[in-house]
Amino acid sequence: MSEGEGPGRYLSRGYQGAVYLTGEGDDRVVVKQPIGRGVARRLRVWMLRREHAAYQRLAGIDGIPRCLGLRPDGSLVLAYVAAEPFRESLPWPVGREAFFTELLGIIQSCHAAGVAHADLKRRGNILVDQAGRPWVLDFGSAILAGTRHGWLFRLACRMDLNAWVKLKYRRRYDLVTPEDRAYYQPTWIESGARAVRRVWRKVTGRRWRKARRQRRAGG
Ligand SMILES: Nc1ncnc2c1ncn2[C@@H]1O[C@H](COP(=O)(O)OP(=O)(O)O)[C@@H](O)[C@H]1O
Ligand SMILES: [Mg+2]
Repeated sequence: MSEGEGPGRYLSRGYQGAVYLTGEGDDRVVVKQPIGRGVARRLRVWMLRREHAAYQRLAGIDGIPRCLGLRPDGSLVLAYVAAEPFRESLPWPVGREAFFTELLGIIQSCHAAGVAHADLKRRGNILVDQAGRPWVLDFGSAILAGTRHGWLFRLACRMDLNAWVKLKYRRRYDLVTPEDRAYYQPTWIESGARAVRRVWRKVTGRRWRKARRQRRAGG
């Protein structure tokens, strides 16, 4: 299906499908629709079903959009949240510190409900509303507790907390307070990914090009 044929205003397109906004005022809902055909579509329908299962466990947690169920075509329906993706340049009406304390509370409530998000580092999955308060969404890659792979759930919980530290301290890990250090435990997946990125930058000469650009801009 093309972007123009969806059930409302097109918001975005990710690996699970297309995301649309429909309805008016307080009845606005977001529809995550599986796209594609054949195996690709079946995979997306399956992922949306998992996302629905995650939202069912998260019902009632502040800062998580209300889930309104699955449609017969496999689309996932969520209450619309008037908020925009997290970015540093927002005005922070409640203060940046309070935002992060509240965000940590949401993440911990999800873990207590048996859901690890596992994709908090991706832009667009943490939103900020007009009051400056956090919202967490996109449980398409979430790991649910109680399935056979308990270690995977624990690993994903650690990744969620690491993502929180990374965002709060803008990657300045040297500034992490002793209190928050307890939340930062890089996993072998993250350390591996970082090593690959380092090599990649070296191979592609990105660091060298950036330094040259800065030298030029300075002189
Ligand atoms: N309930 C919602 N309320 C407001 N915006 C939403 C909602 N759900 C999704 N969005 C917007 O759509 C984007 C994509 O949705 P998301 O669930 O992250 O799907 P994807 O799997 O494509 O990343 C989000 O980054 C957010 O900007
Ligand atoms: Mg997303």
